[in-house]
Amino acid sequence: MRAIEIVQADITALRVDAIVNAANETLLGGGGVDGAIHRAAGPRLVAACRELPQLRPNVRCPTGQARITPGFDLPAKFVIHTVGPVWAGGSRGEPDLLASCYRETLRLALENSVRSIAFPAISCGVYGYPLAAAAAIAVREVRTWQATLAPATRVTFCCFGTETLAAYSRIAEAVAENGI
Ligand code: APR
Repeated sequence: MRAIEIVQADITALRVDAIVNAANETLLGGGGVDGAIHRAAGPRLVAACRELPQLRPNVRCPTGQARITPGFDLPAKFVIHTVGPVWAGGSRGEPDLLASCYRETLRLALENSVRSIAFPAISCGVYGYPLAAAAAIAVREVRTWQATLAPATRVTFCCFGTETLAAYSRIAEAVAENGI
């Protein structure tokens, strides 16, 4: 498979150009990876997010879109915040919205000359997206992007637990075997 890595790690420790935050529409922090990234980046991160325009009250980044800020105290130069869909059974447009998170994040990465980027398993925690389905979307969108736009960009799927690592590894093996 092209330059895609799958690791089990804390994304806040990764020395890459950009890490991706699984945020909420306020962009003012939360729990999970959002909380970890804000803790590690320091208070300047939430201050930078607060400066981003609200499209409507308390919405700085609608679901499926992405916004970029500096990484401040993180090793990563940038944080690309994206808001995944809350899983509601799969018939409310969740797959398309999740795919859009990856595409919009990669678009911002390209625009900012990011050469290495790490994703968490967007929507697979609090937002309840089934892991295997989400991982398949993640791998598909990244491979499509790498094949068409930026083969040199190194992409890391940063798994926080063994279950996530196993799910992403299974998808990657299937892709490698079938060349899809
Ligand atoms: N590094 C890498 N991955 C992490 C880390 C970390 N430090 N902490 C958590 N994760 C993983 C989770 O284990 C899960 O696999 O990130 C994935 C996404 O889970 P959540 O952080 O719960 O994100 P999500 O499901 O997209 O829900 C977003 O949760 O924290 C709030 O403000 C956030 O409202 C938003 C919602």
